[in-house]
Order: sequence, then structure tokens, then C-alpha cells
Amino acid sequence: MIEARELTKRYAGRTAVDRISFEVGKGEIVGFLGPNGAGKSTTLRMLTCFLSATEGSAKVAGYDIYEQSVEVRRHVGYMPENVPLYPDMRVREYLLFRARLKGLLHREAGAAVAEAMDTCSLSQVSGKIIATLSKGYRQRVGLADALVNKPDLLVLDEPTNGLDPGQIRQSRDLIRQLGERHTILISTHILSEVEMTCGRVIIIDRGRIRASDSPRNLVRRLRRPGSLLLEAKVASGASEKLGRISGVTEVAMSEDRDGWTSFTLSTDPQEDVREEVHALAVAEGWKVRELASRTASLEDAFVGLLASGEAEKAESAITASA
Ligand SMILES: Nc1ncnc2c1ncn2[C@@H]1O[C@H](COP(=O)(O)OP(=O)(O)OP(=O)(O)O)[C@@H](O)[C@H]1O
Ligand SMILES: [Mg+2]
Repeated sequence: MIEARELTKRYAGRTAVDRISFEVGKGEIVGFLGPNGAGKSTTLRMLTCFLSATEGSAKVAGYDIYEQSVEVRRHVGYMPENVPLYPDMRVREYLLFRARLKGLLHREAGAAVAEAMDTCSLSQVSGKIIATLSKGYRQRVGLADALVNKPDLLVLDEPTNGLDPGQIRQSRDLIRQLGERHTILISTHILSEVEMTCGRVIIIDRGRIRASDSPRNLVRRLRRPGSLLLEAKVASGASEKLGRISGVTEVAMSEDRDGWTSFTLSTDPQEDVREEVHALAVAEGWKVRELASRTASLEDAFVGLLASGEAEKAESAITASA
């Protein structure tokens, strides 16, 4: 559905996107992640023909972004970072206008708009002036706009930006549901959203792709030490005893109120020492109210990857200056 080859964008000599190549297959939901300024929006704009590339090539929905930009726009639903809406128009009126602009005939447009409004739960506000809508509803109008011509591919640039937690959850469900019928490329900073909806993640940093893998594999590749939380009422010397368990590399302790103490144990990767900790607590007669292992999340993998990128950059700077 997307084939990008060495796609590059330079703004006044500054490279925002640097020869990136990737593919998105039909039916995939792919998360596009990266820190602020990484080049995500720039890439999405080039793929949807709203910005011309400096170099490289791409085929989107089977059409070339240079030669067939009209076709690309017709077959792709794009929701930009800041949804440009006409504030004075009513929701239904605006969507009809957009549908006609995308080439739908008058009689098709009505049904298509009704369906898009239904999908995005907009039916109750269809007669409202856009300027009077809350941010969440405005985002939904942007999404309905992207959907209205029933595109094969949806390109969504931070669709949940600025939404409250309840709406983020709703939008996550909606995106999952849309994924049954559309291929989706979605950029977001909400990693839990990606973890739950995307089969694959592309991480971009300073215009370059740093990783492309499933969220699970990204976490697995991190190979960071495990960590275990223990909250207990203990006698003195507990910290040393916990530290002597094989596989435990470090013990951090913090005294809580009412005589409870929290311990965070660092362990070797892949070591599970919960049983040993439990056995020790029983033998010592400690009262335990929590024992939990903390597994790495996509957020950890993301931060870890970007940190290793920083380290590489520092290293090459040192090499260059030597
Ligand atoms: N029109 C422009 N003119 C000059 N530089 C630009 C322009 N648009 C973007 N840039 C620069 O290109 C780089 C990539 O920007 P881009 O908007 O693609 O990042 P992003 O990954 O979408 O970030 P964010 O997470 O903040 O949305 C940034 O350094 C930005 O300042
Ligand atoms: Mg952006």
C-alpha cells in the first residue's frame, strides 16, 4: 500500500527527512513514532502529496506521488496534524463539501457523509457550527473527512492530540475498528495506543528510521534488566538478605508510612526471582502486601532506542574530532 524509497525532504538546506525507505502492506496498522521534530509529519505530507519531496520516490495505493498525485489524494484519507476546518460551516455541510471536492457525485456524497458521521459518532452534532464544537468533536470531524471517500489507506497525523483520556480510549477503539477495513499509518505520541492497536511500529529520529518491528519485538530487543517491586513489613537487614538472592543485582529501599517498606530489586534480564523473594519473606516472617514484576513497555523500548541513538551520535562526534 505504501512503498517509500530514499524519501528525502530538505528545508532551506536543513534535512528534515533523510533518505527513508519503508513499506506498508495492505491491511496493516502501522504506528509512526518519533520525538518532536523527527520528521513524521513531513513524511506523511510527502506521502499524501501535500508537500513535494526533495529526492526519492514513493508509491501510495499503487500510484506514484510525483506522476499521479491527484490519484494518490483520491485514494488516501489524510488527517493532518492541525485539522484545517471551516469554522463557520455546519458539520454535515462541511463534510458534504469535502466529499464533493474529493470527486464524489452529489447523490453518493449524502450517503457517504451519513456513514462517515455514523462511524465517528457525529450524528448528534451534524447541524452544529464547527466553531462551537469541542476539540474532541473537531478531531472527529477531521477523521470523518479523511474517511468520507472510503479510502484504502488512512494516514492519520496525531489524531488523538489534545484529547482527554476517555476520548483517547474511544479513538483507540475506533482506529482498531477502522483497521478491519483500511490500511492505516498513524503517527502519535501515545505509546499505549500504539501498543494496543498497531501490528508494527516504525521509529524515526532526526529524519532517519531507527527501527521497524512489532511492539513486542521492540520490547524484547531492549533486553533491559528486570525489576521487581516488593512492599513489606520487614525486620532490619532485609535489604542485605534480598541482595543475596541469586540473580538480584541491586536493591533500592524506601521507608513508607505505617511501617511498610518498598523495595525495588533490579535483576538480571530474563531472571524471575519472585519465588525466591516469597520464600525469603516466609522464612523471615515478613508481612507482604505487594510483590510484582515490572515488565518493560514500548515506552521503555522507545526511550532506550532514542538514547542509544544519542550515544552513537556522541561517539561519532568524538571520533570525528579525534
Ligand atoms: N515548513 C517548514 N519549513 C522549515 N522547516 C520545517 C518546516 N516544516 C517542518 N520543518 C522542520 O522539519 C523537521 C521535522 O518536522 P516535522 O513536523 O516533520 O516533525 P514531527 O516528527 O512531525 O514532529 P512533532 O512530533 O512535533 O509533530 C523539524 O526540524 C521542523 O522544524
Ligand atoms: Mg508532526
